[in-house]
Amino acid sequence: MSDTEETPDPQASDETPINSPEVEAAIEKTEEPEIAGEMEAADEAVASDDSIAEGEQQLEDAESAQLAVTDEPEPSNGKGFVATDGAVLGKDFVIPGVGPGDNDPYKWHTGPKQVTTNNAIEIVDVVKQFGRTRILNGLNLGLPDDQISMVLGPSGTGKSVLIKHIVGLLYPDHGDVIVKGDSVPDLSDDDLFEMRKKFGLLFQDGALFGSMNIFDNVAFPLRQHTDKGEDEIEHICERRLREVGLGEAHFKMPNELSGGMRKRAGFARALVLDPEIVMFDEPDSGLDPVRTALLCELIKEVHAESGGCYMVISHDLGTARRIADFIAVLWKGRIVESGPKDELFESDNEFVHQFLQADVVGPLAMD
Ligand SMILES: Nc1ncnc2c1ncn2[C@@H]1O[C@H](COP(=O)(O)OP(=O)(O)OP(=O)(O)O)[C@@H](O)[C@H]1O
Ligand SMILES: [Mg+2]
Repeated sequence: MSDTEETPDPQASDETPINSPEVEAAIEKTEEPEIAGEMEAADEAVASDDSIAEGEQQLEDAESAQLAVTDEPEPSNGKGFVATDGAVLGKDFVIPGVGPGDNDPYKWHTGPKQVTTNNAIEIVDVVKQFGRTRILNGLNLGLPDDQISMVLGPSGTGKSVLIKHIVGLLYPDHGDVIVKGDSVPDLSDDDLFEMRKKFGLLFQDGALFGSMNIFDNVAFPLRQHTDKGEDEIEHICERRLREVGLGEAHFKMPNELSGGMRKRAGFARALVLDPEIVMFDEPDSGLDPVRTALLCELIKEVHAESGGCYMVISHDLGTARRIADFIAVLWKGRIVESGPKDELFESDNEFVHQFLQADVVGPLAMD
């Protein structure tokens, strides 16, 4: 993960709010050179005009791209695993956790348990490669509206990369990301900026501006993106801060708060624009079990009141049991299985079973 992309103020926190000018500026500064650098570093087969033209052709025909995913046979035909874009595993790209000679890396990937129809977010055949390393390799996932979805998966499998595609901080090399009917990679900068107002984002450390007190942090999106007067802003912020138990902390600076309080303040800020979609990247990391449970309760309560599509990334199985309506398990660049929580916890898929039971025996090993 690149620091410059998301850490304009390293003293303040790991991340900054998605709509902040810092993030917008950082994207402008870093995204293109990073992509240019990646392309230079990429293997010839990936960066060649041929493969780019092939990718564009597939993008032009969304229908055939989708068919290619679902019906994709990916035969080994003697030369190793071949991806949908014709790139060969081990020769043209590598996938973390997949051996270069693995002819059948998706043998545990059984797909959706239940196809959801009312999806707020659709990820369609997304491929994303950094240099030779392919992180997402034809990922398909629908996240249902009005539910709390959880994406689980081993460390380094691309969960945060996935969130960044949804909010338009990263663009897919191939495939599409559709949010509320709009294709994110096709949006103009202005439209993307507008779309981001639909999002609330809570990053790992709350991502507060270190130089602003808690109230100003929470008020920031309202001052930035609305023409509401200060009285109304104060009313909204007070309500949100009270909801997260920080009614008395308005004038505290972020470095005066505990990690849990910073996360709650980040949550309050993520909610002030009444977002239709809220994303949490490991809201529970670094919290003790009781505070994790309390944060889960809070997420559930706010969701019950406001609705919308919530997507939570976490390693914590307790969090999954407590708050998830829908679970998707990501591994080797694709969703192994997705579906309602109870079905996934009872899945007989070997990998899903191992992961959700934290079992040492199964397809996932330490390497
Ligand atoms: N901008 C980038 N440039 C190059 N590689 C990247 C970039 N962003 C992510 N990666 C790589 O992509 C892989 C997946 O990263 P990601 O942060 O999405 O993992 P994760 O599933 O969120 O892991 P964790 O559970 O540890 O947070 C990692 O190997 C990471 O190094
Ligand atoms: Mg992550």
